[in-house]
Amino acid sequence: VGYPGRLANAIAQRWPQALRVGRAVFDITDRSRVLDTINQLRPVVVVNCAALTDMKRCEQEQQLAWAVNVIGVRNLAEACQRIGAFFVQISSDYALKPVNEYAWTKRASEAFADLTIRAKLYDHSHWAWDSLMHGSSVKLLTTEFLNPISTTTLALTIEHLLKRGTRGLVAVGTRERLSFWEVGRVWAHALRVNPDLVEAVEQIESTLPRLVDMYLDPVPLAAISIPVFSLEEDAALHLEAMQSDSQ
Ligand SMILES: NC(=O)c1ccc[n+]([C@@H]2O[C@H](COP(=O)([O-])OP(=O)(O)OC[C@H]3O[C@@H](n4cnc5c(N)ncnc54)[C@H](OP(=O)(O)O)[C@@H]3O)[C@@H](O)[C@H]2O)c1
Repeated sequence: VGYPGRLANAIAQRWPQALRVGRAVFDITDRSRVLDTINQLRPVVVVNCAALTDMKRCEQEQQLAWAVNVIGVRNLAEACQRIGAFFVQISSDYALKPVNEYAWTKRASEAFADLTIRAKLYDHSHWAWDSLMHGSSVKLLTTEFLNPISTTTLALTIEHLLKRGTRGLVAVGTRERLSFWEVGRVWAHALRVNPDLVEAVEQIESTLPRLVDMYLDPVPLAAISIPVFSLEEDAALHLEAMQSDSQ
């Protein structure tokens, strides 16, 4: 659910046989449509990638943010429960310490699913990755820390978690805690562009409160023998998936 969003695309690439559900099938806030459609489709597993992910919009349209990011998730959970389907919800690193409306909705979305995954996602549409890919310089913070995971690797990790029947709240991420600036340098290296295109800054103008430490400890994941990659390996996997997708 949430096709053709970024993560839903990566999941569709990993499981081409999976049914892709977008807005044309249902709006997740439409409870009766969600219940009826899931009842007809009879999926075994539902992965919800639908969300209002634009943080500024969540701030401006709070009712919509709660309707999509929380009530929509509850609707899907109810539909899955009725037919015994396993329900997977994607939460966010921002749920660690809610500092804005998006973050509060993502924290609240963690109450409903059989398996909830907290992650900081990226793909090639990330503004910094995209700029570097086109040889443009980027300014990235040395004062915010994270361990982002590509949509490609997250799709693979979801598969591992499903195979193990893992339940509950699981944090997913790459191995190292890096600053945004270090993340940019690793991406530059993966993209074979000059790492000096990544400029270090200590502050940026932001209208929204930000989290300084978004690190999601992946050690429990490694403890259940799920592969945890370095960011360099993760970026290489994503590039490989992009290349095979364009062939
Ligand atoms: N991207 C990140 O940096 C990031 C980080 C951490 C966690 N996450 C979480 O990971 C999940 C996937 O994120 P993503 O980056 O793949 O999101 P995305 O690219 O923004 O895609 C979200 C999809 O959900 C759809 N959608 C929105 N409202 C809907 C509704 N009411 N009913 C049905 N579909 C609806 C959107 O359709 P429209 O385009 O038509 O609105 C879009 O196709 C989300 O739960 C997000 O919160 C994302």
